[in-house]
Amino acid sequence: MSGRKMALGLACLSGQVTWLSALGRQVLTLMVFVSGDQTNQHDRDRHSMANREPPAGSEPAANSAEGSSIPRTAYQELLSSHQAAAGSWDSKEDTSHSASGSAVCNTDLAVEEEVATSTVPASGDPGTNRDDEHESPADPLNPACLVRKDSYKDLKAVRVVAVVFTGRRDRMRILMRYLRRDLRKHGGVVDKIVFALWQYTAKDLAYAKELMSSADGAQGTFEIQDFSEQRWGRTRMDADPTSKRMVQLYQSMNETETVYVKVDDDVVYIAEHAIAELVRERLRQRCLFVSANVVNHAIMSALHQDRGAHRGFWPTEEQQRNPALRLPWAKREDINTSPDFRIERFPASRCVVERWDCAALVHESFLDRAADNTLCVFNFGWHDFNRVGYREHRYIHRSPSINKEYWTQGARWSTNFFAFKVEDLDGVNWSNVHGKGDDEEEFTGPHSERRDRHSCAVGAALVVHFSYGSQEEGLMAYTKLLKRYDKLSRRVSKVWAPGARVESGWLGCPP
Ligand SMILES: *[C@@H]1O[C@H](CO)[C@@H](O)[C@H](O)[C@H]1NC(C)=O
Ligand SMILES: *[C@@H]1O[C@H](CO)[C@@H](O)[C@H](O)[C@H]1NC(C)=O
Repeated sequence: MSGRKMALGLACLSGQVTWLSALGRQVLTLMVFVSGDQTNQHDRDRHSMANREPPAGSEPAANSAEGSSIPRTAYQELLSSHQAAAGSWDSKEDTSHSASGSAVCNTDLAVEEEVATSTVPASGDPGTNRDDEHESPADPLNPACLVRKDSYKDLKAVRVVAVVFTGRRDRMRILMRYLRRDLRKHGGVVDKIVFALWQYTAKDLAYAKELMSSADGAQGTFEIQDFSEQRWGRTRMDADPTSKRMVQLYQSMNETETVYVKVDDDVVYIAEHAIAELVRERLRQRCLFVSANVVNHAIMSALHQDRGAHRGFWPTEEQQRNPALRLPWAKREDINTSPDFRIERFPASRCVVERWDCAALVHESFLDRAADNTLCVFNFGWHDFNRVGYREHRYIHRSPSINKEYWTQGARWSTNFFAFKVEDLDGVNWSNVHGKGDDEEEFTGPHSERRDRHSCAVGAALVVHFSYGSQEEGLMAYTKLLKRYDKLSRRVSKVWAPGARVESGWLGCPP
């Protein structure tokens, strides 16, 4: 890569020398060399970043700190105070769903009515939109997002099964409000939900059973399948691949005509029609795996950032003084331009994957946009994960279930929420799939390359992934974000409660 960049730099240099030959050559050469050198320096930085093993304990140092001589910012102070507190933080379960004090939705509901009845497309489609219908010019970063009706007529004969890797019940309670809305029996597209037990406590199991006996679970609509360690025992690296619980889990999805949607238990928001959009894209046969547009995602958060979707949120003074208060962050700017929160498009990025505070910024932005009905800014349309091929990034893959890690190269993307058919797994090398994370590494890496098929993401299929393992402690200790997502989902379920279906859909903050 370095070599290619270098060659590019030289090509530029000769071009500029020719074009500007009237100018002083010495000065010019100097200029060009400076810029060429920067390019290569940048490349080296990027490379060493990619090659660097994420440090154990991973102190979330700001990416921008280019030298140690730079004085610590207030933000870095905050980080270190959080770091200090994290060691002693009382991690007792504090994710119950009592009424939360934090206000997620403060929108004037007039917005909803207005948009729901409006015929003016928000995002300025030139085909149907006339300027004189706008009271004020549209702001590309603050569009009034439109709700679209969808009868799912084209998906009537398509069987859709959601497979939830189950699960922490404090997150699943949130997830289930959206999945219930999307059930075929409530006018959605999901025929069945499989709760694939992966890791659970006694209370989590009780919750799964409670779901089973609920009205929605009747007629086989819900099913529990047990792939837990309790049932299967610890995975041995040298075990027969088909005896491994992760392999069993995927191989249990064996209906050839079904579109499966894999859902992580900590997905805490699903946009209306998201699942239908994934299924439709899969049926177009253009992509191998079809991902949702995932908020808090190693690859897609960088896309969101570049679209200006993230707002300039910052912990308040009070929160900085006392992180235990878990106060909502405050919006300082329309757009996040802080060098402290620069999100890299990289499978093992620090910001977002390893830093809870980057997740907090992303979540604050999402909730703020949910409240003012501008979530469609996150919609990038369509994204090709493999445009740069199958070996775009170099990183360390960790396989915790066999306690192994190794260098690898791939275009890896987090598989929190994606659609596929059984045939898409043909050719998977199951002997590389031991447990958590290995499915993602194999599917999005070597398997995609062997199949020579690109995977893609659908922008309209917006979902929120609450946390990577490395973000969880900080998010739970210093924010009430999970409670705020819980609150948001309760509003959805009110609107979508069976028999109380609102055809215009839901925009952010219904009454
Ligand atoms: C599909 O998987 C189920 C559950 O693992 C199994 O009982 C069934 O025999 C499988 N069917 C086929 C056709 O492989
Ligand atoms: C599958 O992976 C194993 C372990 O990495 C390797 O030894 C084997 O050759 C691979 N099989 C195929 C068919 O690529």
